[in-house]
Amino acid sequence: MARLYSNLIGWGHYAPDNIVTNNDLAKFVDTSDEWIQSRSGIKQRHIAEEHDLTSTMSSEAARRAMKQAGVEAEDVDFLIVATSSPDYMTPPVSSQVQDQLGLTCGAMTTLVGCTGFVYGLVTADQFIQTGAFKTIIVVGAELISRNLDWEDRTTCVLFGDGAGAVVLQATETPCGMRSFELGSEGASHEAIIAYCPGTAEPITHERIDARRQYLRMNGREVFKFATTTMGASLKRVLEKAQLTPDSVDLFIPHQANARIIEYAVKQMNLPPEKVVVNVDRYGNTSAASVPIALSEALSEGRAKPGDTLALVAFGAGLTWASTIFDLGPPVAKSPKRAQLKETVISEEGIVEGLIA
Ligand code: ACO
Repeated sequence: MARLYSNLIGWGHYAPDNIVTNNDLAKFVDTSDEWIQSRSGIKQRHIAEEHDLTSTMSSEAARRAMKQAGVEAEDVDFLIVATSSPDYMTPPVSSQVQDQLGLTCGAMTTLVGCTGFVYGLVTADQFIQTGAFKTIIVVGAELISRNLDWEDRTTCVLFGDGAGAVVLQATETPCGMRSFELGSEGASHEAIIAYCPGTAEPITHERIDARRQYLRMNGREVFKFATTTMGASLKRVLEKAQLTPDSVDLFIPHQANARIIEYAVKQMNLPPEKVVVNVDRYGNTSAASVPIALSEALSEGRAKPGDTLALVAFGAGLTWASTIFDLGPPVAKSPKRAQLKETVISEEGIVEGLIA
């Protein structure tokens, strides 16, 4: 059998309409636009409204990616949804997304914090290389605003909600993943943590009163980890791919903090015009950050067929994930419109319909 490669044939992203600026936050949190911008580069973030769910945001991003790829529900062989804020602890949110999209394939959720999308992309690429699956959707989605303590200024100002998705399809034309690295430093697992609910800390009134359900972060420890890990991991995946930074057309780092990105840019001596930064508009959308940045870069023509991309992420775990990924040739779109289930939110609840 000829060698198979992953061609990225569709992309899409979704962010809730509700935009919250730093000045909006400063009305109820003891913070300022100046502090947030100077420490993180964030100017605003999208915050989910009552009707938004991780599943519906994932489905919308995936639907846009499928439409863009010209792929129909029955063509999809596997779905991966990366998130750390699923609708429920059980079932996996990927099953809800699968249902909302009208897919009949297997689906799984990867819960690897901000690195989940890159972990998912690497997993999808393995299935494609082995010939197990031909067409795979990978989504990164986060509705993190409902897991934040809005009285904790050290975390709540940094995050935002959204989703991004790609469609990978097997091709015999060389493209796709040239190299990757998946890393974990589990000894630092408490650096970013929501203690409850989980089997270590089941829900009790006392734990809720102590606000153990909200995301806590040791910002300085994560900052140190990110600045040392991002550049080093990028160097290693470039070496594995036998490339130098010059041969990369676009670097797409996890959008946690503009200062962390600037540090990596300096360390790697990268030209700033080759680095995607949108943290100013979205904040840290965790597992959604890399796919939203990737989808925007593709939609704006900043990333083009044949380009070599470097994706690098870090986050809870602490984990990191990097890949060098070549965009393949454009594919001829299917003339048929996808018969996708559309999730329409009404006041009465969720109503399913079909895209016309
Ligand atoms: N507004 C005003 N002041 C604040 C705020 C705020 N929102 N938050 C903290 N401060 C204060 C602190 O209380 C502290 O005051 P003190 O000196 O009187 O105690 C002061 O500002 C400085 O705080 P530091 O923590 O030293 O601020 P620092 O410069 O380290 O920046 C930040 C903090 C932005 C969190 C930084 O450490 C960082 O970016 N860390 C990385 C976070 C990250 O990337 N996370 C991504 C992974 S998340 C995931 O995977 C889910």
